[in-house]
Amino acid sequence: MKKRVLTGLRPTGNLHFGHYFGAGVNYLKMQDEYDFYLEIADVQALTDNFNNPEKVYENVFELTCDLLSIGIDPSKVCFFIQSKIPEIAELTVFYSNLVTVSRLFRNPTVKSEVSQKKELFGNNGESITYGFLGYPVSQAADITAFSGEYVPVGDDQLPLLEQCREIVKKFNSIYGETLVLPQQVLSKNTRIKGLDGNEKMGKSLGNALFLTDSDEVISKKVMSAVTDPDKIHKDDKANPDKCMVYYYHKLFTPKDELDVVCRECKAGCRGCVSCKKELISNIIKFLEPIRERRKYYEDNPNEVRKILDEGTKKAQETAKETLKNVKKAMKIDY
Ligand code: TRP
Ligand code: SF4
Repeated sequence: MKKRVLTGLRPTGNLHFGHYFGAGVNYLKMQDEYDFYLEIADVQALTDNFNNPEKVYENVFELTCDLLSIGIDPSKVCFFIQSKIPEIAELTVFYSNLVTVSRLFRNPTVKSEVSQKKELFGNNGESITYGFLGYPVSQAADITAFSGEYVPVGDDQLPLLEQCREIVKKFNSIYGETLVLPQQVLSKNTRIKGLDGNEKMGKSLGNALFLTDSDEVISKKVMSAVTDPDKIHKDDKANPDKCMVYYYHKLFTPKDELDVVCRECKAGCRGCVSCKKELISNIIKFLEPIRERRKYYEDNPNEVRKILDEGTKKAQETAKETLKNVKKAMKIDY
């Protein structure tokens, strides 16, 4: 029997290369070896986009297309939509008795997100909603509803997983061994840097390179990337390790070509403009099969809908099974 994996993504925008290298590559590896459930977390996305339902709605399709375009195979991975699984909402209510409000306020992920969302939750988080504060509980329901044993996430999500594990342990100790205790799977490359030199690539940081960016947009972004500041003239020697273009070459450029980039940069016989152009063409080459698959799904939206419908049906069956056990353990199975 394959072990069960569950992960979720909020449908709030298109995938960028930070997602691709940080999470996507890991999913592609895991889809062959595990029984993989992939949740499009629309309910969670609404916790901080409740005033923008259109955005969440549109991005369910966008995100699914992006995931399919990178090669996530719907015959191996069960795609489903969170809001279509009412059992998750039920579990959230049951688990909310097992979590203190102060523990939720202390959750580092919640804390940092609240401080980033001043417009929504106030300068000191005084306008935080009950729903947002409680989303770690709902995420614990996401994971346990499908008995997820392994959860591939970025390191920013570790506090949420820890909170889930606490809930599972408490549930099992009160009501008897019922829920599967999940474990995180960290990807090797949890984060990649931005072309601007920022430690992280992010949509809100304004430095994201999206899988759906056009050739023109990619060119513009790469052309403005941060290079070694000591290299002023075309024939100055430079240090590729101080250059974001080189950092990206390492992601997209074949090894033999990469060695040339490094050697020529150090020797001062490589101009930054042509170096950037080479990177642009390698990124575009890399995107070719991704764009091709995306075009196919964009042209066949019914197929995307079918993938979501069938996955959701399967997920509903799995969640129903869990709920039966949970209600029995809690003595609410009248
Ligand atoms: N919180 C995750 C994120 O923002 C998304 C998510 C929702 C998730 N449900 C999940 C991740 C369950 C892992 C498991 O990226
Ligand atoms: Fe960076 Fe290339 Fe310029 Fe060297 S030559 S500093 S690697 S852009």
